[in-house]
Amino acid sequence: MPPVIRRDVPLAPLTTFELGGPARFFAQVATSEDVVWALRWAGEQNLSVFVLGGGSNLVVGDAGFPGLVLQLVARGIEFRSQGNHVLLEAQAAEPWDDVVAAAVARDLAGIECLSGIPGTAGATPIQNVGAYGQEAADTLRSLRVLDRRTLEVRELPAVECGFGYRDSIFRRDPGRVIVLSASFALRPGAQPVIAYRELANALAGTARPSLSGVREAVLDLRRKKSMLYDPQDSNRRSAGSFFTNPMVGVDQAAALVAQALGEHLVQSAEEVPQYPLPDGRVKLAAGWLVERAGVKRGLRMGPVGVSSQHALALVHHGGGCTADLIRLAVHVRDSVALRFGITLQPEPVFLGVAWPGLQQTD
Ligand code: EPU
Repeated sequence: MPPVIRRDVPLAPLTTFELGGPARFFAQVATSEDVVWALRWAGEQNLSVFVLGGGSNLVVGDAGFPGLVLQLVARGIEFRSQGNHVLLEAQAAEPWDDVVAAAVARDLAGIECLSGIPGTAGATPIQNVGAYGQEAADTLRSLRVLDRRTLEVRELPAVECGFGYRDSIFRRDPGRVIVLSASFALRPGAQPVIAYRELANALAGTARPSLSGVREAVLDLRRKKSMLYDPQDSNRRSAGSFFTNPMVGVDQAAALVAQALGEHLVQSAEEVPQYPLPDGRVKLAAGWLVERAGVKRGLRMGPVGVSSQHALALVHHGGGCTADLIRLAVHVRDSVALRFGITLQPEPVFLGVAWPGLQQTD
C-alpha cells in the first residue's frame, strides 16, 4: 500500500512554536520504499518536498507550504557491539531524548549531555545539535540515508557530513538526502564528559558523577532555562535558541570587550562570555549580546515575546502568527547589530517564509 497523501494539513500543531499555515500535501512514510514512492509522486507534479522532524527547530510561514511535507514515522533503537564501542542505531522518528535515556540506562557514554533536547533522532545530525560540551558529531558514526537524486539508500560516514557548529552538508543543501537512521559509537562504562563550566558547577561536590547523574543535572539546567518541554511552562512555545552564537575574529572580540568596559556593561573583561575556537576565532554568547542590547527577558510584543528565562529563546504566547514572530526576531537581530555591530543568524529552519535580510541604510 502506498502512503496516504492528505491535503491542506495544518502544520502549526506539528511545530513547537505552534505557528504557521498548512501543508498543501502531507504524508506519513514508514519505509524507504514509501519515501521513494512519495518523492516520485511529488516529482511528477513538480512539487517541492520538505521532511518534517519533531518541528522543534522550525518556523513555518503563515501561508503554509505549497509542496509535500513528509513525516517519517519509523521508530526503534538497536544496539550492536563493535570493538571497544557499542553502536546505537536510532530510526529517524525516534524521539531524541528517548535515545539518550536508552544509552544512559545501558551505561553507554557519549550523548548524556544532550539530554532533554526536543526533536527526533533523524533531525539531530542536520543541525549537529549540541549542548553542555557535547555535540552529535562527537559520536555520530554514520547515517543511513536516501539519496534524493538517485533514490538509492546508502550509508554515509560521519566524516562526509561536513559537521561544524550547528552546521552540516544537510543544512547547506537540504535537497540532498533524507536521513532514515543514525548510528552513534558509544563507550560502555566510560566516564561522562563534563566540559561545560555551568555543568561542572552543577556537579561540584559529586566525586564521580554517573552518566545518569549528568543526565539529571543537564535536565535540571535546561528546565531552569525553559529549554525543556513542559506543557505547564509559559515559555514552552519556542524553538530553544533562536539565534546561533556568533563566531568572530579576535579583533572584533577585543573591540566588544573594550566597548562593554567603556559603557560599563561589565566591571572586568572576564565577564564578557567568550570561547576561543580551535580555528583562532572566538565564539560569543548571543543571549548575552541580546540582553546587553537592551532586549530584556520577558519582553512582550503582542502575542510573542522573549522567554522570561533566557534572552535567546523567542516565545509564542498563543493567538499569534508567524509574521509576529519574525517581526520580534528582526527587532532582536537589529538591536544587537545597532549596538554591537554583530549580525545574529537565526538557528531554525524556515519553511514557506524567508528570513528577512538586513535593511540597507544610507
Ligand atoms: N546569557 C545571558 N543572558 C541570557 C542568556 C545567557 O547573559 O539571557 C549568558 C550566560 O550567562 C552565559 C552565556 O550567555 O554566560 C551562555 O549562555 P548559556 O550557557 O545558556 O548557553 P547559550 O550559549 O545561550 C548554547 C546553545 C544551547 C545549549 C546551551 C548549553 C546555541 C545557539 N545554543 O546556549 O542550545 O543548550 O549552549 O550548552 O549554541 C539550542 O540550540 O536550541 C540550544 C538550546
